[in-house]
Amino acid sequence: MTIQFTLNGAKQSLDLDPNMPLLWALRDVLNLTGTKFGCGIGQCGACTVHLNGIAVRSCSMPVAGIANQTITTIEGLSAEGLTPLQEAWVETDVPQCGYCQVGQIMTAAAFLKNTPKPSDEDIDANMNNLCRCGTYNRIRDAIKKVAQAQPHPPAQPAADQPQAETEEPKP
Ligand code: FES
Ligand code: FES
Repeated sequence: MTIQFTLNGAKQSLDLDPNMPLLWALRDVLNLTGTKFGCGIGQCGACTVHLNGIAVRSCSMPVAGIANQTITTIEGLSAEGLTPLQEAWVETDVPQCGYCQVGQIMTAAAFLKNTPKPSDEDIDANMNNLCRCGTYNRIRDAIKKVAQAQPHPPAQPAADQPQAETEEPKP
């Protein structure tokens, strides 16, 4: 079956078994080995990529599901150099063995897009990738570093603000 999709900003057209997991297509067909194989059953998150900007586990996604969709892998996260998130990862010395870290960064990137100023609870609830080296505290620190550096959401325009009630003139 011919599957057409956009990968890291470029159109792709591949003849694939529609049941092939996306992770297999990325690593074995397209030679994009940044995305890792961990459990193979959708549990660990090592294989996380973005499908239309949403973090998904590519080991559990058949390529039939990406037809005409947009996929981003770690190789395409930034057109030039490291993203601020990746820089924060380096500055915070997050990785230990490093194996899970691509999946962690892809999950964090999608999470921060929707939640630019997360609380610790938001981070813990959404960063659900496994790390056998236990780098969770440093992952949280790196995410907070990026969040603190992001500009605050624009203030509500005056026209959108509820009008203060004016006091009736006293007789
Ligand atoms: Fe995909 Fe573990 S390899 S979730
Ligand atoms: Fe080793 Fe996460 S850094 S598994």
